[in-house]
Amino acid sequence: MKSLRHVVIGAGAVVIGMHQEALQLPTVDLVAVSDINVETGQQRAQEFGCAFYADYREMLEKERPEVAVITTPHPLHAQIAIECLRAGSHVLVEKPMAVQVAEADAMIAAAQENQRLLGVVFQHRFRSEVQTAYKLIQEGKLGDIQHIEMNRLWPRPESYFHQSPWRGTWAGEGGGVLMNQAPHNLDVLCFLAGGLPQRVQAWTRRLLHSIETEDTAQAIFEWPNGALGSYHTSTAQVPQPEYLKIVGTRGYLEIIGKDLRLYLSEKDFREFSATSPEPFSSPKMHQAEVEIVPGQGNHASVYRNFHEAILNGGTFTSEGAQGRMELELANAMIYASATRSEVELPLDRQKYASLLEDLRKEAAGQKSSTAVKELLNASTHLRRKIYQTAHKFYISTCIMVILCV
Ligand SMILES: NC(=O)c1ccc[n+]([C@@H]2O[C@H](COP(=O)([O-])OP(=O)(O)OC[C@H]3O[C@@H](n4cnc5c(N)ncnc54)[C@H](O)[C@@H]3O)[C@@H](O)[C@H]2O)c1
Repeated sequence: MKSLRHVVIGAGAVVIGMHQEALQLPTVDLVAVSDINVETGQQRAQEFGCAFYADYREMLEKERPEVAVITTPHPLHAQIAIECLRAGSHVLVEKPMAVQVAEADAMIAAAQENQRLLGVVFQHRFRSEVQTAYKLIQEGKLGDIQHIEMNRLWPRPESYFHQSPWRGTWAGEGGGVLMNQAPHNLDVLCFLAGGLPQRVQAWTRRLLHSIETEDTAQAIFEWPNGALGSYHTSTAQVPQPEYLKIVGTRGYLEIIGKDLRLYLSEKDFREFSATSPEPFSSPKMHQAEVEIVPGQGNHASVYRNFHEAILNGGTFTSEGAQGRMELELANAMIYASATRSEVELPLDRQKYASLLEDLRKEAAGQKSSTAVKELLNASTHLRRKIYQTAHKFYISTCIMVILCV
């Protein structure tokens, strides 16, 4: 099988550990890596046995890669991805594809203009239970979807936010749990529901962590077909198994951790409702056998699908517009919470850009006012010390004078 010339931008990233297996695939010819942190970047280049560049632009020019993998912090994703696409590379970018949905629009436009594939790393789509749920929904086993519920906790200790200073900040990340951990869940939600909700209400909160952004979020959604749903996530709560329930007119499925169960009704509820003469009756339900679709929610699965799409013209599951859905939803949740309003999608890009700018300014102001307070505290402390020392000196001088007299 043909291999594609790959480069990695941001090779010193913690997330590279998750790419290791994928970068060994026979379809990968890793020619170079880049990182602004020369020490870790060079170390990675040595491990991979490839060239190192501190400047990714120089790397693009010299190496002319067929695929650029981007693993930098998310505020850099859009700019770097657009440059790679313009340089003629297909781009596989880590999630979230950008910080605000307007940037994702620009990335998608650049991919179309340059006729390159833009893919986002959403490995959870490849999980066996998610693939199985997708198949059951596509086959119409659940009937028409009426309700979706998802709870997914991502407990993180405070030290996690110290590991990379951009985490949990408006400037460095553009959000908290909704930008970093939740993208996987929001992507699965949109993937299985068949698209974005139309309306969003949300509450984002900072319950525990000393960060600028939200560590907890709760939302309710309405999809265009009238289906209603909810989502809860947090980095500040104890671990609990992931819970996803999708209810349709013919039955429902539940994913609890890695376990998928399907419960079917003897009749579609619309038919049952129209024909049952008994006012308090409900249809009989049974747990149905499910043929599990094999799959692994890892980066190697993402790379395989991405390479298949490039080399053989297949469909990449989370190409640009698919990858953008969860970002639009996360932005909408932040916007709905900040403005205490119900948000209609598509999200107003301009309004979100202004909100993010305000949040960044506010956070920067808080930082500088904290610094000023610390400075003032320090100077008050200093004044008090000088006064105490002068006071002690005055008293001892008086005593000396009295003693001498
Ligand atoms: N798919 C997943 O499950 C998953 C898991 C973890 C992280 N991620 C994503 O991966 C990305 C990186 O996260 P992380 O925690 O590993 O980050 P990190 O802070 O550990 O690493 C980021 C790296 O990018 C480098 N970098 C910054 N600017 C650069 C530039 N201009 N050119 C080249 N390199 C540059 C930094 O020096 C650093 O080595 C984030 O977008 C994150 O959301 C995805």
